[in-house]
Amino acid sequence: MTQAHDCLLIIDFGSQVTQLIARRLRELSVYCEIHPYAKVDDALLDALAPRAVILSGGPASVTDKDSPRAPQRVFELGVPVLGICYGQQVMVEQLGGAVESGHHREFGRAFVEPVHGREDAHIFTGLFAAGREEVWMSHGDRVTALPAGFEVYGRSSGAPCAIIADPSRNFFAVQFHPEVHHTPNGRALLANFTRLAGFRGDWTMGAYREEAIAKIRAQVGDGKVICGLSGGVDSSVAAVLLHEAIGDQLTCVFVDHGLLRAGEAEEVVGMFRDHYNIPLIHADESERFLGALEGVSDPEEKRKTIGRLFIEVFDHHAREVGDAQFLAQGTLYPDVIESVSFAGGPSVTIKSHHNVGGLPEKMGLDLVEPLRELFKDEVRALGRELGLPAHFIGRHPFPGPGLAIRCPGEITRDKLAILRKADAIFIDQIRRHGLYEEIWQAFVAILPVRTVGVMGDGRSYDYACALRAVTSVDGMTADYYPFRHEFLSETANRIVGEVEGINRVTYDITSKPPGTIEWE
Ligand code: XMP
Repeated sequence: MTQAHDCLLIIDFGSQVTQLIARRLRELSVYCEIHPYAKVDDALLDALAPRAVILSGGPASVTDKDSPRAPQRVFELGVPVLGICYGQQVMVEQLGGAVESGHHREFGRAFVEPVHGREDAHIFTGLFAAGREEVWMSHGDRVTALPAGFEVYGRSSGAPCAIIADPSRNFFAVQFHPEVHHTPNGRALLANFTRLAGFRGDWTMGAYREEAIAKIRAQVGDGKVICGLSGGVDSSVAAVLLHEAIGDQLTCVFVDHGLLRAGEAEEVVGMFRDHYNIPLIHADESERFLGALEGVSDPEEKRKTIGRLFIEVFDHHAREVGDAQFLAQGTLYPDVIESVSFAGGPSVTIKSHHNVGGLPEKMGLDLVEPLRELFKDEVRALGRELGLPAHFIGRHPFPGPGLAIRCPGEITRDKLAILRKADAIFIDQIRRHGLYEEIWQAFVAILPVRTVGVMGDGRSYDYACALRAVTSVDGMTADYYPFRHEFLSETANRIVGEVEGINRVTYDITSKPPGTIEWE
């Protein structure tokens, strides 16, 4: 791995929020990589040649036997190191200080004040304007003896060593989590740290675009590439980037499984084939998918059927391209980061995600993954850089299995048609009220129940539907969106009034967990 950019290495000890450290740094235009502590060896350190290192938090206690440590060489690289929470304790312990299991646990909000005389330290630039900073703590252990060279820079009521530093080596360690939203000025602390380490803020999507294009050209040469286009942001950005790099050596395959939203196929084909002139195979395979799904109501069976057919169909159409050697995928950095697991044991599959895993081996193709180093918000920034329309880049995520998982019970063409109409109205309402950007994802699910209603003077017996709208950062957790009553009643009136087949509208107010975003 050779780095075009200065790299900051994040050593992961298994904190739930390690990814947030990386995201905050990327927002500061600092390139960073997360690696699990057990994988950080001399070869990796040599290859990355990090300009600075951050030790993440983690669930272990350094007082436990066999608890994780950083390679000692990290402290001998001569580069700045920042320890966060468990990372602070690791640092103290490895450098000759002492940590005790806490008698005083501290969770949640706390206030840190600078030690007298330290207010002007570089690491504090822009901080403590109000005399103290709100921070988010989550620890049971605490530092009881500092390693040689360290001094206390900041304290809170529960953490006498909330911020410690050895300024001669640019080693810093904090007991709280600067990366989380609940530490409002944490970003300034991280910015000061990267500035002290000499980062130039050279990680921008403009620069990335040029490098990615050069890399794609070097990998692909004059070979042919196929790319599965779903209409989602990731595969779209990957396709436009690839097209810029290799032109007509790229062919996109868009599989229409008959489970798309109203107008979706036309929009995708119109944009890629007609606007960008990207060679595109539009495979209308709705009969095949809907036929195979007839009578299937079990959610996992639906997902598996769609996944299997998708691979078959994609494979078939991709072969039409002829001698393609490469398959492009919109894999993102969060899919690549190896996580540190302390729980042990196999994790439970909640839902079988639809992807084209297994395809490259089956087809004997090499993978091109030009977005592998990026977080979702960076992919959006790259999309803007590449000139993709704003409304396309800002689209809510749409799952691979499409409307199938928004139609609990058996899928029929009638139900899909009703669902499409109701969904289009809901999204139209959200856009009209200027709420689309605030909401992470919104859709309608058609429920497998018919209910009695009264329409005009007559009795109706039609489907009920559920509106779902959530706020989220990454889809891992989510909360329902708190619409105003007026919005909900206006939307329900429109759906019942305009969509034949629905006579009742409900609003799903479940968060994730315990619910999931999709209904299946
Ligand atoms: P859940 O329902 O698991 O969804 O809370 C979390 C996010 O993932 C999307 N999702 C999928 N995306 N293939 C995808 O590409 C899938 O099989 C799939 N299932 C769920 C979902 O829309 C939400 O954004």
